[in-house]
Amino acid sequence: MVASIASSQFVSWLDPCCGKGAFLKAMASHEVVPQNVTAIDLVRESSLDTSLAGQFICDDFLNWAATTGQQFDRIVANPPYVGLRRLRSPLRETALAVKELDGKEIGLGANYWFVFLCASVALLRPGGSLCFVLPAAWDYARYSASFRRQIGEKFGEVEIHRCLEPMFEDVKDGSIVLVAKQYAEQNRYVKRYRHKAPKHVIAALNNRQTVSEGRQLSNTHKDSSCSVGEGRLLSDILRIRLGGVTGDVGYFLMSERQRRKLRLPICSVRPVVSKARHLVSATITRTDWKRLCVNSERVWLFDPPPRARRSKTVNAYLRLEKSEGGCDRRGFKIHSRNPWYRTPMPRKVDGFISGMSRLGPWISFNGMTGLNATNTLYTVEFKGSSTSDERAAWALSLLTTQARKALREVRRVYPDRLIKYEPGDLLKVRLNVPPRVNGASARYASIVRMILTGDLLRARKQADLWFEG
Ligand SMILES: C[S@@+](CC[C@H](N)C(=O)[O-])C[C@H]1O[C@@H](n2cnc3c(N)ncnc32)[C@H](O)[C@@H]1O
Repeated sequence: MVASIASSQFVSWLDPCCGKGAFLKAMASHEVVPQNVTAIDLVRESSLDTSLAGQFICDDFLNWAATTGQQFDRIVANPPYVGLRRLRSPLRETALAVKELDGKEIGLGANYWFVFLCASVALLRPGGSLCFVLPAAWDYARYSASFRRQIGEKFGEVEIHRCLEPMFEDVKDGSIVLVAKQYAEQNRYVKRYRHKAPKHVIAALNNRQTVSEGRQLSNTHKDSSCSVGEGRLLSDILRIRLGGVTGDVGYFLMSERQRRKLRLPICSVRPVVSKARHLVSATITRTDWKRLCVNSERVWLFDPPPRARRSKTVNAYLRLEKSEGGCDRRGFKIHSRNPWYRTPMPRKVDGFISGMSRLGPWISFNGMTGLNATNTLYTVEFKGSSTSDERAAWALSLLTTQARKALREVRRVYPDRLIKYEPGDLLKVRLNVPPRVNGASARYASIVRMILTGDLLRARKQADLWFEG
């Protein structure tokens, strides 16, 4: 574990519950200077060699952590496993005062190891690393669920090594070794490894090169395997909204030919996509949209801003009776908005998804200023700033076998065998964190071409390859 995060010997180290000092000995063998080591434990073990640490503190780590101004580059720990309910006072109160990564309270249902982990992250210097050996509960405990989800956002590189056989005599379950590096840096990957026995975990932690090459690990060590990505929920990455709900598509949506016939000026309409078949490429450009226009697709939305009210033809269209092709304004959607003829539209539209495409959900990026969608499609807005390659890498993640399986779980099949994906359900899908982003846009474009020609299997395999190496 020390080897997995060791680098320059001049960084500062912390073992928050050093016990007999197994990690301190390992640090010494990695030529870590004792002056750079802080060791803490509630009790001082008689066999502990305190000369291995510049600073030995005999105290409750959580009590000390709450007030110390110190920060560390490396934290390695084998924390105590005990339910907070079973802790005596004042250890329990001190533990409950620690906050999760997102500042939330930790409840009594949590375990001490989790509190040690949260308190340790708070002591890490940006760029720092930690390595913790944790119980198998890491994988499923509800109290650590949001930590598991967020860890990819907090660290540049995350490895989760699951050992199937017990690692300790007094722990019946297998264990987890969590290696989280580059604190507060952009996440590059979250990788998960499964190892048969402790010796395989140790081999993986020692052999840094093999570990960072997940594929090599799975190919060359039959007792260990790697899958990239603990995963991120789609909701962590983007927002999905319904396109504009017009309330009367017959009135508001029109083709270029209809627009001309009604002599409606360009300033009174806005370009939209309104059907799954309008998603014609990885990125819809103005050229793509114009082609839809030429093909008489209904890709104009009547949405006259105040300045368009100067136009006689716009006013004439607004005044038209229902029987003459005018709008039925009695519908709730239309009746309740002011002015009735302006459809509220999503503001930031980075892309589009169809919830009903027979090809399954995929993202068509928005490459045309002002292009929006009506509610037969969903719009996508990426959270935070990201490059087009980063976005394409996430879009690729949605096409992998793993994501397609997850999508099957959330799809709704209606009595007429119609398959639909609702925005809220899509957002629950967990995606593998892309291992790299450079060149993702080009790869995505070529894979979307495969999808559009119906070659879904090949598209999926190609997407998987991006995540394998
Ligand atoms: C699993 S052992 C760690 C073993 C250690 N790595 C070694 O080499 O012996 C957990 C340690 O946590 C210590 N501990 C328990 N509660 C603590 C607390 N609140 N603050 C600091 N140490 C604590 C225990 O005394 C014990 O030594």
